[in-house]
Amino acid sequence: MNVIAPPPASALRTEFRRNLVRHTSKSFDWDAFPGSRGYPELQRAQMRYIGAGGSPKVNEAGLLKPEHFTLSLIHKPVGNFAACHSHEVEESFLVISGVLTVGWERDGEVVEVRLGPKDMILNAADIGHGFRNDGIEPVLMSISVDAGHPLPPVYLFHPKNTEPTLARAFGAQPGKTLPHDPEGTHPLQQVMAPYVIRHAEQPVLRDAAGFLRQVYVGPGGVASATCRKELLTVPAGLGVQPYVRAVEDAFMVLEGSLTVGWDQDGEQVQATLGPRDLLLTPAGRLHWFRNDSLAPASVWHVVGQPGGETVAFRAA
Ligand SMILES: [Fe+2]
Repeated sequence: MNVIAPPPASALRTEFRRNLVRHTSKSFDWDAFPGSRGYPELQRAQMRYIGAGGSPKVNEAGLLKPEHFTLSLIHKPVGNFAACHSHEVEESFLVISGVLTVGWERDGEVVEVRLGPKDMILNAADIGHGFRNDGIEPVLMSISVDAGHPLPPVYLFHPKNTEPTLARAFGAQPGKTLPHDPEGTHPLQQVMAPYVIRHAEQPVLRDAAGFLRQVYVGPGGVASATCRKELLTVPAGLGVQPYVRAVEDAFMVLEGSLTVGWDQDGEQVQATLGPRDLLLTPAGRLHWFRNDSLAPASVWHVVGQPGGETVAFRAA
């Protein structure tokens, strides 16, 4: 019997396939954080895409190696919380579904902010922070941390050594919780205010190539010395010509679908990403995107350097 073997995959195709992560190919890990073991109220599930994102499970098969940022999803069940902690890196929470309560603590006082879908907070380095799901549906969010400083979190009000009510309140003494208020006069309200991005209120910029951009982290959004993070809206039928960056970038589709591709030496590889699928493109690689569908695509875009856009996009 003659068996026709498929042609061997090119090196480009092999790397592209490795860097394209399908949501449905991944599993949520309910044991990602050793500090939560034995505390049902702290339980959460993590799906790691780029780097381990604070979990010690850095050797998972298929995990993409982080350069300047990690990216994972977190599922937080109704009623559960994450104990107040701090770390020396910045960490962003982008809510995908549900309503997330995030608290920042200082000297026994806490400011809490509630974030809905496509809202974000950048937790500043060294600020005590925790989160809680006070809603009626699970929270799904995307977390990104800087990749360069993999120290474990420092727990400030963990239930192992904190009274339960105090731990759930992120360390706020009774009557010492304030709501987030950009106009608020409390010093901690003023500290938090520039780090919160409301999707509905964030300016929409039109790129010359025709897609829309809301800067979450970077010029016009939260200031950062590490990465830029944006929400892109790519209209149906719109695409851009191949471009290259000096650093890596990642696309994670939130809604709709986006066709993405790499070009090298006349060879082209492409695939279409659906919701929660991700492509990580390394520095120096020619890449492009196009929306082949009939509906706009909403895409979370993380670029491994701070500052404004350096690419002059051209419509394809
Ligand atoms: Fe954190």
